[in-house]
Amino acid sequence: MLFLEIFPLMSKRSEVIKLAPSILAADVSRLGEQVSEVVAAGADRIHVDVMDGHFVPNLTFGPVVVRWLRPVTAVALEVHLMIEEPDRYLEAFAAAGADTLIVHQEGSIHLNRTIQAIHALGKRAGVAINPATPAVLIEEVLPDLELLLVMTVNPGFGGQEFLAGVLPKLERVRQMIDRVRPDCELEVDGGIEPHTAPRVVAAGATVLVAGSAIFHAPGGATAGIARLKEGLAAG
Ligand code: DX5
Ligand code: ZN
Repeated sequence: MLFLEIFPLMSKRSEVIKLAPSILAADVSRLGEQVSEVVAAGADRIHVDVMDGHFVPNLTFGPVVVRWLRPVTAVALEVHLMIEEPDRYLEAFAAAGADTLIVHQEGSIHLNRTIQAIHALGKRAGVAINPATPAVLIEEVLPDLELLLVMTVNPGFGGQEFLAGVLPKLERVRQMIDRVRPDCELEVDGGIEPHTAPRVVAAGATVLVAGSAIFHAPGGATAGIARLKEGLAAG
């Protein structure tokens, strides 16, 4: 533990690995406490999963949740929009206090326009791709992105099994980023646990979203973060 406190977790490319706990797995009856706990335990940002019951078969949070969370923590709030027609809600989430707005390639017909709209709101732009979506579909927008999210499960639910078949695509995306926009963050989301975390980092991920592995960990969220960091250090 002492080692981990002194030396931050680094990728092979000497980038610090960031952890983004997903509040989808948190105890929502005490959301503020849960967020404060993970931030104190070393979370770098908070991941808010927004689902509309159309793009994915589940419903979750709206802008009001982001507005309530904003004063709870100083760390960045990233909003993962798993919704149809995301353009309709960008302004509301930006006004609520989101720092990064992530839209899905599959849900945005005019993706370039959507990214421009996010930047016009003064926010960081992220694009997510589902496991079945080829990396080449984000090649044209990559120069404009602050973050690219490669889904390691099919979106819609927490607690799903990591899809190892995505790893070769993650490696290809890493190469594209290094070539086109090296400062773009490469995030993964879904099934990230102590034993899968080192695999995605080896493939080039720099930001790890984790829900169940943190909030459902035996011993609580602080223990969950410690276990993820141990997994990364051992990997
Ligand atoms: C899935 C969401 C994820 C989810 C991850 O659609 O985008 O952020 O919370 O949950 P775990 O870490 O439990 O797989
Ligand atoms: Zn997510």
